[in-house]
Amino acid sequence: MKDATPQTVRSDPVRLAQYEAPNWLVEDVHLTFRLHPTATRVTSRIRFRPNPDSADRGFRLDGEDLKLLSASIDGRAVEPRIDAEGLSVDAPNDAFIWECEVEIDPKANTRLEGLYMSKGMYCTQCEAEGFRRITFYPDRPDVMAPFTVRIESDQPVMLSNGNPTASGDGWAEWHDPWPKPAYLFALVAGELRATSTTHRTSEGRDATLNVWVRPGDEDRTGYALDALKRSMEWDERVYGRAYDLEVFNLVAVDDFNMGAMENKGLNIFNSKYVLASPETATDRDYELIEGIVAHEYFHNWTGNRITCRDWFQLCLKEGLTVFRDKQFSGDVRGHAVKRIDDVLMLRARQFREDAGPLAHPVRPEEYVEINNFYTATVYEKGAEVIGMLRTLAGPEAYDRALTLYFDRHDGDAATIEDFFACFQEVTGNALTGFERWWSQAGTPRVTAVTHWSGDVLTLTLRQSTPATPGQPQKGPVWIPLATGVLSPDGKEVAPTQVLTLKTSEATFRLEGGIWRPSDGPAADPLPASVEPAPILSLNRGFSAPVILDRKVTDAERLILLAHDTDPFNRWEAGRQVAKEQLLRALDGGALDPAWFDALGRLVSDDSLEPAFRALALGLPSEDDIAQSLHDAGRTPDPARIHAIREDVLQGLAEAQAPLFRALVDALVTHGPYSPDAEAAGRRALRLRALDMLSRLDGGDAAAEVFATADNMTESLSALAILIRRGTGEAESGTFFTRWYDDPNTLDKWFSTVIGNAAPDEAVAVARRLTALPEFDPKTPNRFRSAVGALSANTAAFHHASGEGYRFLADWLIVLDPINPQTAARMTTAFETWRRYDGDRQGMMTDQLRRILATGPSRDVTEIATRLLGD
Ligand code: PHE
Ligand code: ZN
Repeated sequence: MKDATPQTVRSDPVRLAQYEAPNWLVEDVHLTFRLHPTATRVTSRIRFRPNPDSADRGFRLDGEDLKLLSASIDGRAVEPRIDAEGLSVDAPNDAFIWECEVEIDPKANTRLEGLYMSKGMYCTQCEAEGFRRITFYPDRPDVMAPFTVRIESDQPVMLSNGNPTASGDGWAEWHDPWPKPAYLFALVAGELRATSTTHRTSEGRDATLNVWVRPGDEDRTGYALDALKRSMEWDERVYGRAYDLEVFNLVAVDDFNMGAMENKGLNIFNSKYVLASPETATDRDYELIEGIVAHEYFHNWTGNRITCRDWFQLCLKEGLTVFRDKQFSGDVRGHAVKRIDDVLMLRARQFREDAGPLAHPVRPEEYVEINNFYTATVYEKGAEVIGMLRTLAGPEAYDRALTLYFDRHDGDAATIEDFFACFQEVTGNALTGFERWWSQAGTPRVTAVTHWSGDVLTLTLRQSTPATPGQPQKGPVWIPLATGVLSPDGKEVAPTQVLTLKTSEATFRLEGGIWRPSDGPAADPLPASVEPAPILSLNRGFSAPVILDRKVTDAERLILLAHDTDPFNRWEAGRQVAKEQLLRALDGGALDPAWFDALGRLVSDDSLEPAFRALALGLPSEDDIAQSLHDAGRTPDPARIHAIREDVLQGLAEAQAPLFRALVDALVTHGPYSPDAEAAGRRALRLRALDMLSRLDGGDAAAEVFATADNMTESLSALAILIRRGTGEAESGTFFTRWYDDPNTLDKWFSTVIGNAAPDEAVAVARRLTALPEFDPKTPNRFRSAVGALSANTAAFHHASGEGYRFLADWLIVLDPINPQTAARMTTAFETWRRYDGDRQGMMTDQLRRILATGPSRDVTEIATRLLGD
């Protein structure tokens, strides 16, 4: 295979501080594609004009893996100097036309960046720097231009950005009038079928909406199309933003590095986040499809109409768009449950990232490979930062700031400062000091100490943020803590009020139900209660993404669990009790029987939503427990964590057996499957109960559910339960045979079988499954389903033999030359190595060094090097 990353390619970091405006701007772009699987010809005609903001007239274009056939400036042939990353040539002093023709090989493009082929279909992925693999161009987001595209091929459907302008036998032309950076360019050609509808925008224009899939998949497009329409209506209603082209095309492809891509007017999706039918998609899939369709659509304004000046500003489009898609999903599915789900994810991925060697600010200051910064921090913490701005400014000022942002920056390549300035303007500079959230990495810890005098409640908050790589010193950030107070018998005595900690320490006093800053003495750490003190409900709704450290008794937590008016904190109280119980059990202590009772009461409380009850029943994950032990200065033993957690679940199952039996029977859904949140919540609770029951009946009830289920949610959960019980052999075979030729569903088989295998067996299972002819490392979904499932099976990955680590490294070494972007992302599974004992640390770092010794891609080199921290 041709080496995709020649050694001469840049390996030193790009720095935010070194940003320079482009020398040349682009007036417009004309592209012609003559598609051929191994020899596609791309001609470009680009009108350049000098950038008045730059004095330098040097002319350089990015280009990678391109064969230059001809080039000219203003019609005169030129001979550019070509290197591994592009070309340079002497340019005129004033505006000129650059033309060139290149040849590229889409079939050999296994990186899936630029133009590539997926199952006979041509498609592109240009974010972040893929356009330079299509033709020579100033491939940077601050160069924006309208594009006109002509496609010539024998494929029946040919799509690009914007509106269709003309077509004929073997060709089609598209024009996108909206200036855009090259990373939003897209082209698709193939045998595709559309499911369509129209949408009349709030501004009175009609747009045709098409969801394009391969023949045979048309019956699985309805949900995505409906989600698209609802997203459009929501953005009109909530943000006042309407769609701006005559067509909106959304295409599903099977080979894709990420979830989906917001190319202007031509969103390209991993088929996993488009195709859905009750038989093949789980409730979770439906939820993700809805959320991701909305996310990509919302980018039309936050990302496309207003884009990023440079890649350091990535959170400007991603954090904001994630925040918007979460608002949408909360509106559709219920805010409480959505928030709990989101926080679970935030803690599992972003807190973990922020606590390890890959920690970086929401706006990083340097990168070697930008693809390595599409992270939980940029996306999820980036969204939390927007959420805090909304909390601090208030919903109305937030709306005004966003309107100002859209008005002022439409058509711009903007920065975080531009965005923040809109908030400063509408709030009269009230937010000065908030900015550190973008520049400082690490999860802040907040300690809270209360003092109760018998009539005055005092609360002292202190914050600190641990050092992260490259940032040894930290300063205080603004921490808005939504706070309520309950009486000892569980009545709310002070409603939610946001207390904002802006300095390293502050004290607040509750007087007459209102909190006020206090300059009196800090609260005494030993509360001298004259009677039971009121109970504090801190960080309601998880208003700030911090780790709270506060001495709270189990009794207080059980009161919050039973009575808090804030559903998030109700769940959180249960979560904290569960965590403490698990930690106690790990130390050989006995469980508090009151916990199982309280949990039983909550789970059987019919006044609560089933989805909430299902979440309340979930125990902290093994990875979460390991991190908590590490935070407490201890060394986690993954095998023991697994065993003890299983024992606790067994104890819970036994203590509440009748409840779980009753739930499995009572929550059967009747009638045709519906993916709505209510029905999904019932299934979620039923399936949790089924898991509990399987610990008592050896899996009989789960086998019954598997045999009779008419939807993927139940079949897949039942299969997972049976595999965890070690009895799913037959069902696994049935599932494989049934879904053998359905890629997205077969992926579920790989991940379920490997992800739920017992710690001692999982690596052998994973080796067996990755040896099957159905395992193809070239397809990222399949690779993630199999190899990623092993690294997510915590006790198996961290098996004392080190075989889990070896298995992952073996496959990363295979994948890297094929697809460095996906290989790098999966290398991050090693990010927790410092938590563990010396043997495991040695084995993990050995594997990282072994990977580095193969001379991997820039992507993997950067991640492995940062992981090792040397
Ligand atoms: N911009 C895409 C999104 O979040 C993610 C993406 C990044 C997709 C890079 C492909 C490549 O919506
Ligand atoms: Zn995005």
